[in-house]
Amino acid sequence: MERGGGRNQTPIMEFILLGFGNPPELLPFLFLLFLVIYILTVTGNILIVALIVADQHLHIPMYYLLGNLSWLETCLISVLLPKMLASLLTGDRTISVKGCMVQLYFFGITSTAESLLLTAMSYDRYLAICYPLRYTTLMNGRVCGQLVAGSWLSSITTCSIGMILLLQTTFCDSKEIDHFFCDFSPMLQLACDETQTLELVTFAIATIWTFVPCLLTLTSYVCIISTILRIPSNTGRKKAFSTCSSHLIMLVIFYLTVITVYMVPTGNTSKVLNKIFSVFYTVLTPLLNPIVYSMRSKEVNESLRRAIRKLVAL
Ligand SMILES: *[C@@H]1O[C@H](CO)[C@@H](O)[C@H](O)[C@H]1NC(C)=O
Repeated sequence: MERGGGRNQTPIMEFILLGFGNPPELLPFLFLLFLVIYILTVTGNILIVALIVADQHLHIPMYYLLGNLSWLETCLISVLLPKMLASLLTGDRTISVKGCMVQLYFFGITSTAESLLLTAMSYDRYLAICYPLRYTTLMNGRVCGQLVAGSWLSSITTCSIGMILLLQTTFCDSKEIDHFFCDFSPMLQLACDETQTLELVTFAIATIWTFVPCLLTLTSYVCIISTILRIPSNTGRKKAFSTCSSHLIMLVIFYLTVITVYMVPTGNTSKVLNKIFSVFYTVLTPLLNPIVYSMRSKEVNESLRRAIRKLVAL
């Protein structure tokens, strides 16, 4: 791979995030759109966390994991959107190289932890549906805490390894990142030294952290669905399915958007499309998560109603 040859070798201190190209007439519209999305996402997820912390009925592992996921999604979207909103508002699209690294680091941690936490939630549903009699011994507060801590620790560890390697990279040549946040591969294209080791290591990490959770989730759901299908009564089947349907919907949205982002070819024509899918992938899951759970999960829905009744009574 030819790097640096004939390129401007002065290290640069800041990048320009091209975003959506920011045509001036679209700026107010994009700003409002993402502001509304941001406010809805943060409010919805914090509401879910508050319900789970405050309501005794929701003090079970399934909802502890959901609470942690909602909290994580609040962090994830707060890593990306405030900077983007500021640049849409002021028109200033620059970001310092350090700022870009920080954003990439936290984006990496939160998005990896999200996929691991979604996997932990599949495992919880797997135990609940496939081993209902042993569920309370297999899944308790301690195991749940270990799953949460494990998700965070492993994502922090792997992202730190990637970041240590990336910190040794200097950036020169062009300053323009053709994306709306500091993502890994658009950044790497601006590196002026050899990036093969870095690319290889991160490719290996990304592959492991994508395929292992995906495989575990698939296995869990194959067992779950075959168990549900073997339940003789219709109502029993419906009842068992209702406990995992919200999670299944979130999984489908998450993996569909991830797969689309990586499957859409990155030729010039589909760059805009690719960015739009990246928005879906980063923003859609956090936005829809509270909506899906408060509508489809009976316990969350009832807890929400109780909370609203109490508020009205006040
Ligand atoms: C996250 O998980 C831990 C461990 O199970 C739990 O104690 C805590 O309440 C959860 N946090 C939220 C916000 O639900």
